[in-house]
Amino acid sequence: MLKRVERRFLDVLASIYIYNEYRGYSSIDRVLKSMKARHSSEHWFIEAVEKHRRDERKHYLMFKKYFIDQGRMPFAVDSSCGHIDRLIRLTFGCGIDDLDTDAVSRSDDLFFRLCRIIMITEIRGMNQLDILLEDRLVRGDPALVKIFKVIQKDEPSHWTPYRDWLEKKNGGDPRWNELAADWAVHKSLVFWKVPSLLLSPGLKRRSGWHDDGEDQSIMGRAA
Ligand SMILES: [Fe+2]
Ligand SMILES: [Fe+2]
Repeated sequence: MLKRVERRFLDVLASIYIYNEYRGYSSIDRVLKSMKARHSSEHWFIEAVEKHRRDERKHYLMFKKYFIDQGRMPFAVDSSCGHIDRLIRLTFGCGIDDLDTDAVSRSDDLFFRLCRIIMITEIRGMNQLDILLEDRLVRGDPALVKIFKVIQKDEPSHWTPYRDWLEKKNGGDPRWNELAADWAVHKSLVFWKVPSLLLSPGLKRRSGWHDDGEDQSIMGRAA
């Protein structure tokens, strides 16, 4: 019984992660589109964000393999488990898919805000990994530990280019409301969302992969 609960916890955790990795690289596509439209000469930043996109796709594929190796599909978690989804909604007032990329391209304010939100999300992810890698249940799953260690190594290179860009362009530090939104989303995921998924008997597994129909190479599409 205890083993089953522990297994379910790890599956819920990995299901939330694979969803977030997927949303990560698909939302970076929106940034790249804006950047290429507005800042096409800023090669260093475009290259850093493209590398970020490749890494998030790589993380997604590691979790996909994790589930395939176990012969199970991830749980069907939705955008309420997506850190970036909820942060964009709280700070832009719409979902990622509804974000007006043209408006973001035209407005420095909006583009800076998007960069700050991605930076905050990445810093949160990096700090969370330190906690997870100390967790007894996670440490009992060598395949998951291996994935988290790869992500931990990649993570600093994900947020520093946004910080450097914001500094260079006077895009400002994260605003108090952006940091408050990040705090609120994180707390609700850890203390409400994960427990409620664990205790939800009707939680279904996905019937397909998040990236079905996409370019299946590790590079994926870049914009
Ligand atoms: Fe990632
Ligand atoms: Fe990341």
